[in-house]
Amino acid sequence: MPATIYVTRQLPEVALAPLRARGVVRVWDREDIIPRATLLDGVHDADALLCMVTERIDDELLAHAPRLRIVANMAVGYDNVNVPALTNRGIVFTNTPGVLTETTADLAFALILGIARRIGEGERMVRAGRWGAWSPFAFLGHDVHHATLGIIGLGRIGTEVAKRAHGFDMRILYTNRGRNAAAEERFGCTRVELPSLLRESDFVLVLTPLSADTRHLLSTPQFHMMKHSAFLINAARGPIVDARALYAALRDGLIAGAALDVTDPEPIPSDDPLLTLENCLIVPHVGSASIATRTRMATLAADNIVAFLNGTRPPTPVNSEVLS
Ligand code: GLV
Repeated sequence: MPATIYVTRQLPEVALAPLRARGVVRVWDREDIIPRATLLDGVHDADALLCMVTERIDDELLAHAPRLRIVANMAVGYDNVNVPALTNRGIVFTNTPGVLTETTADLAFALILGIARRIGEGERMVRAGRWGAWSPFAFLGHDVHHATLGIIGLGRIGTEVAKRAHGFDMRILYTNRGRNAAAEERFGCTRVELPSLLRESDFVLVLTPLSADTRHLLSTPQFHMMKHSAFLINAARGPIVDARALYAALRDGLIAGAALDVTDPEPIPSDDPLLTLENCLIVPHVGSASIATRTRMATLAADNIVAFLNGTRPPTPVNSEVLS
C-alpha cells in the first residue's frame, strides 16, 4: 500500500514533487492555518506528516494518527511539538536546521538596525504626510556600530549575527548553555551571565529556543537591569518575552525600544497595546522568509520524509534514538 503523506500548507512544487513520487500526498492547499479539526481528521490515515510551526503536534493529534511514523517540521524551532510523545510512540521527528541560519541572522540584524535608526517610525511618518523640514534634531536614533550587542543563545543563528556584528565593530557578549569557542575566537564574543549581559548591552537579542526554562525569561526584573537606552530584539519565540511587562517597560521608558519578529500570541491581535507604541517595531515572524530559504526548508522537510519512507536515514532527525 502506498504511503499517505499529509502536508499542512501549500508548498513549492519542487518540495512536493518528491513526495508525490513516493506516496499519496494530501495538502491543505491554503495560505491560512489549517483548522485543528481538519488536521485531526486529515491525519487519520497518514504515515507521514509535514507540518509548520503553526500546528500543535501533541498527544491529542497522535491519538488521531495511528499510522503515523514520521513528522517533519518545516522549521528549526520545535516548541510546537511534543517530542517525547513522538519518541515514546517510536515516531521519527525531524526539523530544518542549517538551511535558514544566515537568512534569519540577516533579519535579526535588520531588526537591530531598524529599531536603532527608527525605520518603522520614520516610514509611518513619511506615509502619513508628516515629513517636516530637515532638522539637526529630527529623527535621531542610536548608532549600531561600536555598540555592545548581547546575544542570548549563541547557536548557529547567533553565531551568524555575531559575524555581522563583528563587521559593525560591535562588542559582543553572549549567554549560552555551553561555550562557543569558535565565535569567541573569530568574532571576539565574550560569554557572561545573563545579568551582566542585560546591564552592559545596548542591544539585547533573544535567540534561545522556547522551553519551560526560557518562558518569560525576560520580564520586569530583567528590564530593570537593562540600560534605559537599550533595545530588546526578539527573533526567537514570542513567549520568551513577557509581553505585558514589555509594554509597561516601553511605555515607562525603562528601555528605549523593542523589535520583534515573534509575538505572544501570533498573530498579534490588532488591539494589542504594543501596537500603539512608536518605539516598538513588529514584523510578522519572517526570520526565514526569503524565497530561497523557504524553498530549502520545504525541500529539506520533504527530503526527511522521502529518506525515511525509503528506509534510509533522514538528513536532520531530532530524536535520532528512534532510528537506532
Ligand atoms: C521559525 O521560526 C523556525 O523555527 O524555523
